[in-house]
Amino acid sequence: MRKLLIVLIGLQLTLSSECSILPQHIKKCRFGNTTCIRDIANALIRNFPKGIPSVGLKPLDVVHVKDTVLIDDRQEGVLWYFFQLLNQINYGFENTTIIDIKGFDEDPTSSKIIIKGQIPRLIYKGIYKAMGRLLWMVRINSTGESESEFLNFRFDFTLKVQTEYRNGKRYLKIYQLVPNVYVDRWIQWLENFFPENTDLTIAMNRIFNANWVEFWNELEKPILEVFTSVFLSMIEDIFYNVSYDDMFLSNNENVN
Ligand SMILES: *[C@@H]1O[C@H](CO)[C@@H](O)[C@H](O)[C@H]1NC(C)=O
Ligand SMILES: *[C@@H]1O[C@H](CO)[C@@H](O)[C@H](O)[C@H]1NC(C)=O
Ligand SMILES: *[C@@H]1O[C@H](CO)[C@@H](O)[C@H](O)[C@H]1NC(C)=O
Ligand SMILES: *[C@@H]1O[C@H](CO)[C@@H](O)[C@H](O)[C@H]1NC(C)=O
Repeated sequence: MRKLLIVLIGLQLTLSSECSILPQHIKKCRFGNTTCIRDIANALIRNFPKGIPSVGLKPLDVVHVKDTVLIDDRQEGVLWYFFQLLNQINYGFENTTIIDIKGFDEDPTSSKIIIKGQIPRLIYKGIYKAMGRLLWMVRINSTGESESEFLNFRFDFTLKVQTEYRNGKRYLKIYQLVPNVYVDRWIQWLENFFPENTDLTIAMNRIFNANWVEFWNELEKPILEVFTSVFLSMIEDIFYNVSYDDMFLSNNENVN
């Protein structure tokens, strides 16, 4: 492993009361050196799957997702559907590879910040709640465990940031995060969808999985909203806690 990457000897965290400082063994990059930033981001992800609480880096291996209503038709007439995901936990972010980074110049507002990455397998587990009516034949009112698996999950997000000064240092504040996500396959299992009829539950799940692309396209907007909040929750605290100036070598500092 190259010298610039993390040396994981004696995890010595430095914490001051005023602000957080990155663990000392994490090498810094120069502003705008996106190759260096990408390599260090990947080293951080590999070496700290449980996060670094002192700087606001949350665990990546277990990510809690806020409850989300994915579908919310008006509950009237003969065809409507309501679908909610509760207590969802996201597994697999610890296996993220950052592929490309843009931005992070000395003036972070001067260019777009773009972060592009890939995750082999992302899993969502939790509880779902479904209600609905499909013509006069089927009434749906079910709840149970849900599990979704996204294979070859790729993402990019573009950040718009402002800087704010605290104690004479610049901190990044995100005012917009625009994500894109792509998957090769979405596999879902909704347990107990028809509580009285296991065969029907299996059939329903099969239909979903055979037609996942249509569901994915239809649900793109709420799915992106979920990922926006997941990505935000991962990076917001770091930017809040560690000043932008402390993340990088200043131009007259030497790489040691
Ligand atoms: C960027 O950082 C890498 C180390 O990751 C270093 O080898 C390279 O010289 C740096 N590039 C510039 C332009 O400073
Ligand atoms: C990091 O920021 C969050 C709020 O964004 C705060 O709750 C937390 O205490 C901070 N952690 C440190 C070590 O400053
Ligand atoms: C993450 O990678 C590890 C090591 O390859 C693997 O054991 C684990 O199952 C992966 N996590 C997920 C959610 O796929
Ligand atoms: C749905 O089922 C729950 C219990 O599983 C019940 O309390 C509720 O009244 C039902 N709602 C409707 C509209 O049938």
